[in-house]
Amino acid sequence: MVIEKKLLDLFQEQIRNEFESAYKYLGMAAYFESTPYKGFAKWMRKQASEEMEHAMKFFDYVNDRGNHVELFPLISMPTHYTSPLEVFRETLEHEQQVTHLIHEMYRVALEIQDFAAQVLLQWYIIEQVEEEKQAQDILSQIETTGDSIAALMKIDSKVGKRKD
Ligand code: FEO
Repeated sequence: MVIEKKLLDLFQEQIRNEFESAYKYLGMAAYFESTPYKGFAKWMRKQASEEMEHAMKFFDYVNDRGNHVELFPLISMPTHYTSPLEVFRETLEHEQQVTHLIHEMYRVALEIQDFAAQVLLQWYIIEQVEEEKQAQDILSQIETTGDSIAALMKIDSKVGKRKD
C-alpha cells in the first residue's frame, strides 16, 4: 500500500536530511583531519556512514511501499570549526533537531493511521535516543577537560576506538 502524500513528502525530505547529516559529519571529519584529533575524525567518519544507512533505510522503505523516490539537492557544509567543544555542541543540537523531525513524522503516521510506517519510525525513535546519548556523552567528557590538551587527547583516543 503506497504511502499517503502527507507522510511521503516528509519521508522524501528525510532522505535528504539524513544525507545532509552524513555530509555535515563528513565536514566535521575534514576539520578534525586538519588537527591532532584523529580519533574524533574517525568517529565522525563512522557517524557519516551511519547517516547514509539511515538515509538508505528510508530510500528502501519508500520503494518497498510502491512510491517513487525523489532526491533533492544537498546544501554545502562547513569544514572549519574552532574546537572539539564547538563541534560536539553542534552535533548534539543537530541530533536533537533530527529527533524532532522523526517525532513529527510519527505524529503524522498516527494521524493518518499508517500502521506500517509507525513500526518503521519506531526504529528511528529508538535510534535517536542512542544518537543523542552518544553525542551528549562525548560533549560531557569534553566539557570536563577545561584547557587541558592532554585530557582532550585522551578522550580523542578513546572516542577513536568506536566500532560501529
Ligand atoms: Fe540519522 Fe544521527 O540520525
